[in-house]
Amino acid sequence: MQTDGTEVLHEVPAVNIKEHLLDLSLRLTTEFLLGEEADATATAWEEDRWTNRFAEQFNTAFRWIAKRERLKSFYWMIDGFEFRRACSAARGLVDEAVCRSMEALKMRTASTETYVALESLLRQEPDPDIIRDQFMNLLLAGRDTSGYLLCWIFYALSREPDLVLTLRKEIEDAIGLDESRTPTKIELSAMVKLDQFISETLRMFPPVPIDCRTSMEATSLPQGGGADGSAPVLIPKGTLIAFSTFAVHRSVASTSQCGMYGESASKFCIERWNDVRSKERRMVDWSYHPFLGGPRKCLGGE
Ligand code: HEM
Repeated sequence: MQTDGTEVLHEVPAVNIKEHLLDLSLRLTTEFLLGEEADATATAWEEDRWTNRFAEQFNTAFRWIAKRERLKSFYWMIDGFEFRRACSAARGLVDEAVCRSMEALKMRTASTETYVALESLLRQEPDPDIIRDQFMNLLLAGRDTSGYLLCWIFYALSREPDLVLTLRKEIEDAIGLDESRTPTKIELSAMVKLDQFISETLRMFPPVPIDCRTSMEATSLPQGGGADGSAPVLIPKGTLIAFSTFAVHRSVASTSQCGMYGESASKFCIERWNDVRSKERRMVDWSYHPFLGGPRKCLGGE
């Protein structure tokens, strides 16, 4: 009889969970956007499910997009039949799902059914082409980010066994042991340790670790210029500026400077979020910005 689970761990071969978690993330995002109707045509054959067919095309197209994105304005140099075919098939599948949702929408009122983002969009914007592009945009923005956060969550948990027990207890206290029960929004917001854990995972391992902006006008950065770096820096119009959320989140600059993290910056420590206002403060001074901020802030950050 095992007492602490160590024996079990030694017997289990290593598994690469990345693909499974990305797949899960695609399914959850699709379900949120399309509702369960996405699989309305499912047959007995698992391979024939809408989500499976869509995931295959989406993954192929996304591999190409990731390479094209790196070339910035020269993205068009990377192209191919496989890419075009996957884009067209993915678009076709979304069109199919949009049509189905339009039919479903005629049959019911929003207040009586579970929330389906696509139906909500359809109520405001009846043009199926715009809806399809919005859907793709949300999926591109939400799939990898959420999937990689899940990967880092597993990584962080594997290094913090005590935390696993603490979080498990908090969840059990809130919703009991019934694994099929989904917590409500109110129950989730009461899980303080879980929130701190996710905040710390997003700090240490932000799913968007680097990002960039191009200046639309000539402007300046407040510091970084001059011999000692304290003078402003000129940014001419059209300059591409890259910045690293990862580096800022691990900055050891003194804690009195813009809420940075001090000597404990590289330590995984959920207690740093004990003060409920610390996250808000750090978002205001930009020392914590996993979802960025301002007008283009992530829509999925909540
Ligand atoms: C852990 C999960 C996520 C992280 C860390 C994350 C992070 C980010 C970041 C850093 C940006 C800004 C990108 C930029 O402007 O350069 C962004 C934008 C965006 N995110 Fe997320 N995201 C997450 C999940 C999601 C989800 C689940 C959705 C929707 C289903 C979503 C929808 C969007 C959209 C639509 C934008 C573009 C907003 C705009 O440009 O106006 N995100 N996200």
